[in-house]
Amino acid sequence: MSQGRATVLCVMAVADCAVLSPPIGAPTSAIAAVNVASMPQRSPLRYPGGKTWLIPHIRHWLAKPGPLLVEPFVGGGIVALTAVMENLVDRVLMVDIDRDVAAFWRAALTHGEELAAKVLEFPISRANVEKLEQRAPETVLDHGFRTLVLNRTRRGGVLAPGAALTRRGENGNGVASRCYPQTLADRLRAITSHADRITFCEGDGVAMLELIARIDGARFFVDPPYTGRGGKRAGSRLYAHNAVSHRRIFDALACAECDFLMTYDCSPEILGLVSDYGFEAVAVEMKNTHHDRIPELVINRDRLFANS
Ligand SMILES: C[S@@+](CC[C@H](N)C(=O)[O-])C[C@H]1O[C@@H](n2cnc3c(N)ncnc32)[C@H](O)[C@@H]1O
Repeated sequence: MSQGRATVLCVMAVADCAVLSPPIGAPTSAIAAVNVASMPQRSPLRYPGGKTWLIPHIRHWLAKPGPLLVEPFVGGGIVALTAVMENLVDRVLMVDIDRDVAAFWRAALTHGEELAAKVLEFPISRANVEKLEQRAPETVLDHGFRTLVLNRTRRGGVLAPGAALTRRGENGNGVASRCYPQTLADRLRAITSHADRITFCEGDGVAMLELIARIDGARFFVDPPYTGRGGKRAGSRLYAHNAVSHRRIFDALACAECDFLMTYDCSPEILGLVSDYGFEAVAVEMKNTHHDRIPELVINRDRLFANS
């Protein structure tokens, strides 16, 4: 794409992102975002920025099964869990830098049954959640349990420092309104039954990407936090870690010539990188929790999702 055309697209993106209606500087995806309620909910975490709406794209992308999917910014892990549980890949490698998120995945993968038992036993109340919040966890199991409870009881599932507990919640159920012990225990048990195919690693997803992007046959689902101009800028309050070099990510993927799928807020900065690296982007219109229509970019190397 020429520099001039990229500039025009970026200007269009600024204008169109502002009014939140397509076209937005990238063609619309041939696959629509789905209502998340119609998708299998596999993650016990209620993750801000979670990608359940993207599952039809993921299934299409991974239609030909492969050996390994790497998710360097795994968060709630809905993509990795779906890939393993629907046998779209043999194994997944999940990475996240957040120590609370890391503790959850370690506990879920190595102490899943005990974690499920703790969820079923916990007498949910505001006072008990506050007590749990203030106590430093002593074991990985305790830490993972604390992460899960705080994720399910804080507003919007936000784990970053300063996030408040839900007040009224759904139907006035307060902190209990997003805690479904039996459902969470079932999801944890489903993870346990696939744990031999899931590896979690706590660390920097960008460095990991640079290290392993050339592994033969590996595919990468990349969903980094985003705080840039023109985006939702929510990354800074949603995640404790939110500063990553987007150019380093694009560079690692371009140099390795690997198969990847990336998602980003629709912003001039990201459309500029897509153009610089010769990648393809489509827009998917998402409805957020306030029912605003937000365009998100789905980026990969080939024209996989564009309407012809
Ligand atoms: C947009 S969220 C991922 C959401 C995920 N795709 C889902 O569906 O739940 C971004 C995640 O990246 C993590 N993160 C931020 N900086 C990171 C880094 N340098 N390396 C690895 N993970 C990082 C955050 O902790 C957060 O969990």
